[in-house]
Amino acid sequence: ISYHLETTFLQCFSSYSNSTTKVVLTQNSSSYASLLQSSIRNHRFSDTSVPKPNLIVTPNNLFQIQTTILCSKKHGLQIRVRSGGHDYEGLSYISNLPFLIIDLTYLRSITIDIKEESAWIQSGATLGELYYAIANQSKVHGFPAGSCPTIGVGGHFSGGGFGTLFRKYGLSADNVIDAQIVDVNGKILDRKLMGENLFWAIRGGGGSSFGVITAWKINLVHVPSTVTIFSIPKSLDQNATTLFMKWQSIAEKLPNELFLHSVIGVGASSSSDGGKTVLVSFTGLYLGKAENLLPLMENSFSELGLKNDNFTEMSWIQSVLYFGGYSINDSLEVLLQRNQTSPSFKAKSDFVKEPIDISGLEGLWNMLLEEKAPTLIMTPYGGRMSEISESETPFPHRNGNIYDIQYLVSWDSNEETSKHIDWMRRLYAYMTPYVTKSPRAAYLNYRDLDIGMNIGNASYVEAKSWGMKYFKSNFERLAQVKDEVDPSNFFRHEQSIPPFSY
Ligand code: FDA
Repeated sequence: ISYHLETTFLQCFSSYSNSTTKVVLTQNSSSYASLLQSSIRNHRFSDTSVPKPNLIVTPNNLFQIQTTILCSKKHGLQIRVRSGGHDYEGLSYISNLPFLIIDLTYLRSITIDIKEESAWIQSGATLGELYYAIANQSKVHGFPAGSCPTIGVGGHFSGGGFGTLFRKYGLSADNVIDAQIVDVNGKILDRKLMGENLFWAIRGGGGSSFGVITAWKINLVHVPSTVTIFSIPKSLDQNATTLFMKWQSIAEKLPNELFLHSVIGVGASSSSDGGKTVLVSFTGLYLGKAENLLPLMENSFSELGLKNDNFTEMSWIQSVLYFGGYSINDSLEVLLQRNQTSPSFKAKSDFVKEPIDISGLEGLWNMLLEEKAPTLIMTPYGGRMSEISESETPFPHRNGNIYDIQYLVSWDSNEETSKHIDWMRRLYAYMTPYVTKSPRAAYLNYRDLDIGMNIGNASYVEAKSWGMKYFKSNFERLAQVKDEVDPSNFFRHEQSIPPFSY
């Protein structure tokens, strides 16, 4: 059956286009395996047991995307769209049905208009490429988006997108002003043609339910020519628990120019017994100079004991290198690297509205000490994030949250997968009393299939079990948009939005 599907798809595609052999890769093509692997960012999905696409289409232009959609519909192939491949559950390149991947790696041009303070970016570009392109033209412009430079614009913007400018400027999606999409009928639509409902849906509702988003127009934001960073790790012996308690009470109230997140992990304890300790790193980015940051920190968080020599001044783009895991003196070209080896990992997310008490934290530390490489990233709310209403975009997690938690655990050997996933699920269960309830909120870009998924052509009511967690009451509007733009539910997957009338 599979061979038949591929042949009929290829015949269909080549009836429209004469570039089939270069653009459509079959499992026999010499570059199929390396292209498939090139942006798999979670090693557990490289495993041979994971279903592979029948075909990979690497379009150079929109016409080839239109053709792929029409031929896939005609010949019964599912489509998975992949920009940067960072999907936590691999949904951009895995399906249990016969499927093809539209991999947007060759559609990644970036056009910056500094005068207009805007840019058009094709979905296959990475955040690193975007940051690099902005920095090449201006030292005082930036864009609010994630830290990892290899993330693709396509998935990131359509799922929200948060990073170190989040308190000052909100999500990436909040700063999108136009977009281009190829819909289920193969039509190319910009904001005006798609209308405000669909334009609303793709800024946080996930792109993959609605079509293939090929480009985005964004507003660039202002950053000062000098920013300041610091990072202070504290172990349990160094009062990490008390300091974290204080952090919970101030991080969302700080001025919008100061992003102070805490990253929690496990390290060797300073005692000679070879034991482990929880380490909490308080890491900040201040949009301004150290001389202004020092009094601010003394007033709001004197317990950290920051001094002038804890601060490093730099340009905004150097702070991008820093948060991307590079040295601030590295050449900016590192931001253009696309290939990266990745570990296997499992992640989940939560939102916190009330500070976690000491006994809750102590239990959390004990759970972290059971694992080899756990990481919790606590992203402070407040600022711009609290000013935007819950229904402005599909991303509803706004005012009232004090921080977001991302739980991560990674490992090397896929033989250990179930052990670590089991630990992650126990950790999530442990956190239940301390985080949002009814619904227990989750962030789409930290996709987690444990919170629920569609079985086959799931109905709107069935999908509410997971949909309300990502989108709260925006889920209904998303399903109505889906009804309008893809009533036959062609673009579907384990967590796609079902049409409202299903
Ligand atoms: P990928 O290509 O896997 O797509 C993700 C989803 O979007 C899939 O469902 C896919 O089908 C769909 N999609 C992609 N392109 C599309 C298009 N053009 N049209 C329609 N649908 C499309 N997040 C964050 O907010 N802040 C952060 O700092 C980080 N950091 C981070 C680090 C690392 C190492 C990873 C692996 C991930 C993150 N993330 C993150 C999460 C990231 O934002 C999320 O995984 C994005 O969806 C990734 O977008 P990609 O295009 O890379 O993924």
